[in-house]
Parts: sequence; structure tokens; C-alpha cells
Amino acid sequence: MTNFKPMKYTSVSWLLFFCLIIPSCLAFNVVSFGARGDGRTDSTSAFLRAWSAACQSTRQPNVYVPRGTYLVRTLSLNGPCRRRIEFRIDGTLVAPKNYYAIGQSEFWIMFYKVSGLTVHGGTIHAMGQGYWSCRKGGGSCPQGARSIQFMWCNNVVLRGLKSLYSQRVHVGIGYSSNVRVEYVTIIAPSGSPNTDGIHVQNSRGVTIYGSIIKTGDDCISIGSGSMNVWIERVGCGPGHGISIGSLGHTWNEPGVANVTVANSVFTKTQNGVRIKSWARPSGGFAKNLMFRNLVMRNVGNPIIIDQNYCPHNICPRQSSGVKVSQVTFKNVKGTSSTQAVMKFDCSPSNPCSGIRLQDIKLTYNDRLRRPAFAYCKNARGSHRGKVIPRSCI
Ligand SMILES: *[C@@H]1O[C@H](CO)[C@@H](O)[C@H](O)[C@H]1NC(C)=O
Repeated sequence: MTNFKPMKYTSVSWLLFFCLIIPSCLAFNVVSFGARGDGRTDSTSAFLRAWSAACQSTRQPNVYVPRGTYLVRTLSLNGPCRRRIEFRIDGTLVAPKNYYAIGQSEFWIMFYKVSGLTVHGGTIHAMGQGYWSCRKGGGSCPQGARSIQFMWCNNVVLRGLKSLYSQRVHVGIGYSSNVRVEYVTIIAPSGSPNTDGIHVQNSRGVTIYGSIIKTGDDCISIGSGSMNVWIERVGCGPGHGISIGSLGHTWNEPGVANVTVANSVFTKTQNGVRIKSWARPSGGFAKNLMFRNLVMRNVGNPIIIDQNYCPHNICPRQSSGVKVSQVTFKNVKGTSSTQAVMKFDCSPSNPCSGIRLQDIKLTYNDRLRRPAFAYCKNARGSHRGKVIPRSCI
């Protein structure tokens, strides 16, 4: 804190400078707590000490990670804290090469019961390659860690983070409210297993804005119990698209309501926007969903509702109990790599209702020039404007 270097006029330096001249603001630099940015020294306990000092502070606390590469194992950053915490990262956090180091716990970096938090900047590299090889080899592997998770947190901003090569989900949001994720970059190779970009579950008031997600599974997945989710200006691909579900795995499951996906681009993804539920009894639902102003570039299944999800055939002759209703697709344009460009495969026991199509233009990229088509089963609703190919609703 007392180590003055010439200021660079970056926003972060400005904020630290601001922090130095305002007496009520305190910087908790991890290096002053013993962290070393040499890429080799285990800095886990230094990070934990800096966090708990900041968490106890009654003055405006700023955790600061300067430039450098910091080796850290599992970090449980627990609240509740006394004040809103600013967590600024200029450096890179890396996980140990041995995937057991973080892979035996569910999370690598977890914020738990923190109310009022901004995490700003930085890169986190989970070194997931070894873990994926283990998974693909089919041997016994540890459960695998999500890279960064917010659990029971409120009023959170995650801004400008770069998350690379997670063992599993890159960014997880669970049992939290009022969370804004913006300008993040998430990167994992297209073949990496279960490396979802952002997974939201049991949370309310989540905004994901201005982000780039290239991964091996869903770019964004919205699980049960999520409400008021806003996704805008996301670039997705490679990956499996933006997905609501899988829903309805169990009988007693909360639903998903009020989700908007807008102004986003999908490039060579396995799906575009998808609602997916298990073909088994459930009290779950998905309602009031809006997908608009989306561009598809050579995407498989650009628009898909799949209520017949049942891997390993564990639900023979059952149908989905999840009720899908009030779903709008508006101004969705581009090219598809599958012939069925819109697919509404709804549950026979709970048909989809209130499906609305408006201004759709999706073409099939086919060397044989076969036409694109829409497929409907147990789907009800309406269409207006120009819908190409012709609506089956
Ligand atoms: C839907 O969610 C958005 C935020 O994502 C919120 O502003 C809006 O009020 C919600 N609408 C309803 C009916 O809850």
C-alpha cells in the first residue's frame, strides 16, 4: 500500500489512487499478505488472509491483485462481510497442473453469502486440459471444479473477467439475486466436456451483458428456479448455444420464468436457443420467455424446444411434466447447418402453448439445396410477420 510507483492512467490505477486519497477506503493488496506473482508459489493462504481482512473491514475495502501470475488452490471467500467489497484483479490466477488439487471440491473460487461485491478484471486459468483427458479416458476422475461460483450472494457485479479452460462450468450463479455479469470472456475448446460458460440456477435478477463465450458445452444454461434473467449482446460459439434446462429431472422442481435473450450472435454452435426438458413426470415449468434479434451463422437447430431429453433411456414411455408456455421468437435470422431450422418437440401430456413466431428467416446451408423446414409436435401458438420457412404452429 505504501509502495508508490508512477501512476498509469488506467481506470484501475485511478481507482487505487482514489482509494489512497480517500481515508475511508482501504486497499488489501494480496502481495502485502504474502502472495507471490511468480506463477509457482502457492498463494492460497495469502488470498484467504487478504479476503478475511477485507471482509472484516469497516472502511470501504478493496482487495487488489496486482500484475503477475498467482498459483492458487481452492478459495472459499465467505461472507457476510461488513461492507461492499471491491475485488480488483490485474493479474492472472492459475490452478495447479495436477487436476486433483481443485478437482476434488466443487468449486475453485467460490464467493459464499457475500452481499455487495464487485469483481473486476483479471484472468483465471483453471488448467482444465488434464481433467478433460481424464474424463474422456473414462477412468475414475474427481468430480471437477467450477472455476468461479457465487453461492447465496446478492448485489454482485462481475466485470471484465477472462475465464479460461475450466474443468467444468466456468461461471456459476446459484441461490443469488441481483447479479450482473458483463464484458466477460470465456474460452475453452469446442470438445471439452461440460464446460458451460455461465450456469444460472435458483437465482433472480441476473443480467449477462456484452460477453464472448467460446466453449465445449452450453454458452449459457439457465436451470430450474431462475427468474428475471436478461441476456444481451452475447457472442456464442463454438458451444451448444443458450439453453433453458435441462428442466424436469425431478418431480419437485421450481420453474423458470421471465427470461430474455436479445441482440446476440451464434456462430457454428450445436444449437441456437433451446428449451430442454426430461421426458419424465415433473411439476416444473418454463414461461414468459423472449428470444429476439438473434443472428445465426451456420448453427445446428437454431430454434429448438426438446421435451424428449432422456439420455441412457432411463425414462421409457414417459413424457415431460414441464409446462412450456408464452415463448416468443422474434427477428431471428441467418443460416442453419440442420434442415429442421425450427423444432418444437413438445410433451404429449403437457403441450407447449403460446408459442409466438414473428419475423423469422432461417435458411439451410445445404450442398444439395434441400429446403429448410419447421417441425411441430404438440405445439400451439401463433405467428405473424414473415416467417421463413413456413410456420408449423
Ligand atoms: C422480467 O425481468 C426483468 C429483468 O431481467 C425485469 O426488469 C422485469 O421487471 C421482469 N418482469 C416481470 C414481469 O417480472
